[in-house]
Amino acid sequence: MEQYVIKGGNPLVGEVEISGAKNAALAILAAAIMTDETVTIDNLPDVRDINALLQAMTDIGAKIERIDAHTVKINGSFVKDIPVNYESMKKIRASYYLLGSLLGKYKRAEVTLPGGCNIGSRPMDLHIKGFRALGAHVEIRNGAVAAEAERLIGGHIFLDKVSVGATINIMMAAALAEGKTTIENSAKEPHVVDVANFLNSMGANIRGAGTDVIRIVGVEKLHKTEYSVIPDQIEAGTFMFAAAATKGDVTVKNVIPKHLEATTAKLLEAGCEVEEFDDAVRVVASKPLRHTQVTTLPYPGFPTDMQPQMTVVLGVAQGTSTVTESIFENRFKYVDELTRMGADIKVESNIAIISGVKGYTGARVSAPDLRAGAALVIAGLSAEGITIVDDIHYIQRGYENFDRKLESLGAQIQKVNSEKEIQKFQFKAG
Ligand code: EPZ
Repeated sequence: MEQYVIKGGNPLVGEVEISGAKNAALAILAAAIMTDETVTIDNLPDVRDINALLQAMTDIGAKIERIDAHTVKINGSFVKDIPVNYESMKKIRASYYLLGSLLGKYKRAEVTLPGGCNIGSRPMDLHIKGFRALGAHVEIRNGAVAAEAERLIGGHIFLDKVSVGATINIMMAAALAEGKTTIENSAKEPHVVDVANFLNSMGANIRGAGTDVIRIVGVEKLHKTEYSVIPDQIEAGTFMFAAAATKGDVTVKNVIPKHLEATTAKLLEAGCEVEEFDDAVRVVASKPLRHTQVTTLPYPGFPTDMQPQMTVVLGVAQGTSTVTESIFENRFKYVDELTRMGADIKVESNIAIISGVKGYTGARVSAPDLRAGAALVIAGLSAEGITIVDDIHYIQRGYENFDRKLESLGAQIQKVNSEKEIQKFQFKAG
């Protein structure tokens, strides 16, 4: 299995280009089959989750032409098998977006229930509530969610919890329903707005995305479009925290600074300097890091997908900090790994109490999930000595060329897949 081996201690310095947003791209790809015409999508991140979803869509009959690593042409007119099978779902949870797109277009959909993952149980009750409000009959049978409707009629949906996935899935189905749909307490993430803009570029009528009330007027059909995915604010934030943890000076390029406001605010509180440009943000960490308090919230609050990276930075800040995880019930699993690198963190239910230490020491650790894996790499970059990160397939799900981008900023990191390669790296790194 591939691993990252890292020799810590180098401050990250320089500029890094941010790729397209994985969580916007996954929903946009699923929505692309809602027309029988050909859709071109670019600025896709070249990561495992995207490639897995493209495979799942091919499996149900979508015609997909890869123009290059970041661009595809998709034609959904040949989609025939509605059930999205277990194999596809196992590879990529976000196949559940095919529920909304297939239900909207064919008035029936069947997708294997994704089940839980390492950060929580990941229920779909709000997705189902939304589809039922549009008149669909939805049941869970044989481990799959099956939805069908004679007709989809616009309705009024109040989401009990702010849910990115439910907001997007319902928005897709409602785009081709008859009449008006209102989604209240909708998620406001940038990727929700990106999916709405994509659907509108195909002829949908969606207003209010980015606010907590989204109004959709169903249309007969959708047409072709060419669309570019927004930059990934989670990838950008990950590099910003890597700059802070390594006392570096990094400019993340091709970003939308407004999407990073919560991250910027916390880095400023922790003692970093942050400079915003039109499509870039520069983080300079020349002073000792200071403690602060963080609570993860739906956008525009501090993103849960940045929680592990923030904790790693606070783990080597002066003083005692707290990080409260209010979105997922099991998102501190990585703390045990970080403790093996010298962190002094106590997790009480959904709060991590962090007593800053002078620095981390290298160790062999295992990535428990995508964002925690990236956070452990950041810890390794700032640690004294050698860190080996196992199970990096999680990280490769959502970060394009993560090691190469870090190397371009001066990190000593290499992707390896044998003990021999690890020894060679250690010998070279001295
Ligand atoms: C999306 O997951 C992202 N994944 C997650 O990113 C991200 O952490 C999450 O949004 C929150 O921002 C993708 O976009 C593919 P939710 P999603 O529905 O849509 C509860 C990453 O690292 N809930 O907003 O599944 C749920 O349990 C991944 O890229 C219900 O109760 O998240 C959670 O507590 C990790 N019922 C809360 O809502 C439902 O029907 C927010 O979940 C749905 C969700």
